[in-house]
Amino acid sequence: MQIAVINGANLNALADRDPELYGGISYDELETRIYSWAAELNLSARCFQTNHEGAFIDWCHDARTWASGVIVNPGAWTHYSYAIRDALELFRVPVVEVHLSNIEEREEWRRHSVIQDVVSYRVLGKGPDGYREAIAWLAGRIR
Ligand code: DQA
Repeated sequence: MQIAVINGANLNALADRDPELYGGISYDELETRIYSWAAELNLSARCFQTNHEGAFIDWCHDARTWASGVIVNPGAWTHYSYAIRDALELFRVPVVEVHLSNIEEREEWRRHSVIQDVVSYRVLGKGPDGYREAIAWLAGRIR
């Protein structure tokens, strides 16, 4: 069972972002944790990160052919990219929205997610462990 984990703009620079908000770990460390959390639940994860909206969308289209579940953190695109929202809507498998920080308790412009109506589950403000919760939720859903 393969799950797709798609991270968007600026998440590659995680180690240099505010540790209070984003957990203070590097993107590589986040991927390492995701792979091991997935393995603990007998799932195989494939991670992808990009700072390019078109590449994000292309990867979503490709993942439609092999993913049994999807975890997505589009970064700032969450708040305004209808193109990413439409790409996520194409999935016929469950999609989980994850944010390291609690976007609903931050600046006004961050509180709205344009993808929230096309996801099945949301995890906000739990730092890197939010991905673990998302994986566990998917594990319960897709088998
Ligand atoms: C984020 C929240 C977004 O508002 C922000 O632009 C990010 C990261 C999060 O994981 O908390 O880049 O998606």
